[in-house]
Amino acid sequence: MQEYSLQMRKEGKKIGFVPTMGYLHEGHLSLVRKAREASDVVVVSTFVNPTQFAPNEDFSKYPRDEQKDKMLLENEKVDAVFIPSPEEIYLRGFQTYVEVGEITRGLEGQSRPTHFKGVTTIVTILFNSVMPHVAVFGQKDAQQAVVIKRMVQDLRMNIEIIVHPIVREKDGLALSSRNIYLSEKERKDALVLSSSLRYASEMIASGEMDSGEIIGEMRKKIEAVDSSSLDYIKIVDAETFEEAPSLSQGGKYYILVACRIGKTRLIDNLLVNTGKSELFV
Ligand code: PAJ
Repeated sequence: MQEYSLQMRKEGKKIGFVPTMGYLHEGHLSLVRKAREASDVVVVSTFVNPTQFAPNEDFSKYPRDEQKDKMLLENEKVDAVFIPSPEEIYLRGFQTYVEVGEITRGLEGQSRPTHFKGVTTIVTILFNSVMPHVAVFGQKDAQQAVVIKRMVQDLRMNIEIIVHPIVREKDGLALSSRNIYLSEKERKDALVLSSSLRYASEMIASGEMDSGEIIGEMRKKIEAVDSSSLDYIKIVDAETFEEAPSLSQGGKYYILVACRIGKTRLIDNLLVNTGKSELFV
């Protein structure tokens, strides 16, 4: 991988990179197209990274379809696909990790305490392998994108990080490789994540600035769905990811929700800008 990238760099090509765990969908492909726009050569990695899953999580049953992924990436005219094995990534005797501080502790980090250490470590290894000029991440994992930006800045990695909006189904469900776990009924129930976010954006549009009120209404909607088990709803400053008890004019916030539908843990979020939220559905 490094040889390829060094060659591209020698030819003066700008390398764009999209790291993924495979089982690709339109959300991933939108990142690939963004990388294409921003660079000359596009590299995509697919690697289900064991270190970002806790022992009780779904690492072994995480969906995989290498042939289909390759076909989709070929259709996108990606220049290189990097599909390392776990042994190639985590060499015998491996013992070096990258850990970002405060912003990894809340939200996903609170529910999944070892998750971000795995993410920042694998992303560093992938960055050092692919040596990109630009890397594209999805807003779907908003906290992950902020953590990566922090890491890149703190460790002086010379890589531009682009964050691309969430791709949704027509009915609002955010695309996710994990949606495959949902039964037909759960698939319908899962719409409560995006619909509660939409409801929150309507509350804000009509002047509600109290986070507690907004969260309370969202909670009611989610708890009314019998297959749901709410993990968190949080409203945070979009830059620092610090909790915002109230919204102020001119502020930029994320409303984030994590919720189990049946056994499947789903996340979704909405970026709220100056009382004017992004539109979806
Ligand atoms: P994965 O879940 O495969 O996601 C890869 C990238 O696709 C992430 O940046 C994610 O935010 C983005 N993505 C997923 N669903 C999306 C959607 N509906 N719309 C837009 N973008 C979407 O995130 C990971 O893998 C891993 O943690 C990784 C960064 C690869 C490290 O292992």
